[in-house]
Amino acid sequence: MALLLRFPPHSIYLLRHTSTPPKLFTPPTQNKRLLLFSAAAMATPAAPARKVLVPIANGTEPMEAVITIDVLRRAGADVTVASVEKQLRVDACHGVKIVADALITDCGQNVFDLITLPGGIPGATNLKNSGILESMVKKQAAGGRLYAAVCASPAVALGAWGLLKGKKATCYPSFMEQLASTANAVESRVQVDGKVVTSRGPGTTLEYAVALVEQLYGKEKADEISGPLVMRSNHGEEYTIKELNPVQWTFNDGPRILVPVANGIEEMEAVMIIDVLRRAKANVVVASVEDKVEILASRQVKLEADMLLDEAAILSYDLILLPGGLGGAQAFANSEKLVNLLMKQRESNRPYGAICASPALVLEPHGLLKGKKATAFPAMVNKLLDQSEAENRVVVDENLITSRGPGTSIEFALGVVEKLFGREKALELAKTMLL
Ligand SMILES: *[C@@H]1O[C@H](CO)[C@@H](O)[C@H](O)[C@H]1NC(C)=O
Repeated sequence: MALLLRFPPHSIYLLRHTSTPPKLFTPPTQNKRLLLFSAAAMATPAAPARKVLVPIANGTEPMEAVITIDVLRRAGADVTVASVEKQLRVDACHGVKIVADALITDCGQNVFDLITLPGGIPGATNLKNSGILESMVKKQAAGGRLYAAVCASPAVALGAWGLLKGKKATCYPSFMEQLASTANAVESRVQVDGKVVTSRGPGTTLEYAVALVEQLYGKEKADEISGPLVMRSNHGEEYTIKELNPVQWTFNDGPRILVPVANGIEEMEAVMIIDVLRRAKANVVVASVEDKVEILASRQVKLEADMLLDEAAILSYDLILLPGGLGGAQAFANSEKLVNLLMKQRESNRPYGAICASPALVLEPHGLLKGKKATAFPAMVNKLLDQSEAENRVVVDENLITSRGPGTSIEFALGVVEKLFGREKALELAKTMLL
């Protein structure tokens, strides 16, 4: 297994059992100009929308659900997030609240190009116990269409439904024994066998989602989508942070961490930060800077905050962490209340941090990077006054922590865990998440 974990991310393409021809349209070849024009058109999200179903339940692992939804929507897929519960709002693991687009009972008549199940316990069991979902995925298999699952769900749902017979499949390590009784169990990070795609856990979900994009839209689209994700290429190696001017981060209570959210935030970044820090037992307060607790993130995932920032701002925080996303970062920069909290944080030498667009659009313009090294989303690094350490995935400078994008979010959160609870704790978490 140690050996398998050291495979580069593109090994997922080598592990493919049978190959599906890419479904990109072929440009006409008789005219060079037309060909160039068509190639340009292909780069825009004009590809035909494939229909995807992502069922969610109480106890779903939110990183696995949200990463999959987000990446597939980036590729142009028409993704329906369907609750198998009686209501749209589900209580995902680690107190993350996701509001689905539909109830599964309203989706039974639709035909999907892909059905992909997130994991999490008891989420995987709740998905397995949905009779409607079971019959939909069985029809999917019988119709020769794609179905997929990550973490506990390959064993707990697909395997239990008898849909992995004779298939190479993988799942979360502690479910491998159960999987082996219903499938040809293998330890790949992502496994494709015919129309079945499976993967292992939170830390493999980004690769899994990109593999799903490849199945639906072809390799070129998958490569186009994976670039801006800033994915990790050295899985199985210990993550690293770049630390300058090290100081001890101290905390009183929990620690108590504020994660502001707004319309247009990058949902996978927010959810990965919240999830990882709650796994580390930090007291994370998710507060909306909007006038409602329900926010609509950049790829239309609806998340429910714990409270409004007005309420959250009564307390002080050991740490404030900003997720990215263009619209979200703009909303943060325009929130006087949030900017004041960040200013106070800096004045009192308490830690704060930001990822993706937020270092460039929130921290820099308000003088919150002054005299410090930082990084940001690659396309926004040019907005930083000091870019000398911007090539690092995670930069810590005294009380400031910054990072680059969706694919560095777990490392960013682990960097925080390391500063608060020590590297050993962070490495243990990295291992359980299969980073
Ligand atoms: C699932 O979560 C929702 C939203 O919080 C809650 O109202 C519902 O009672 C939960 N369902 C079960 C079966 O626990």
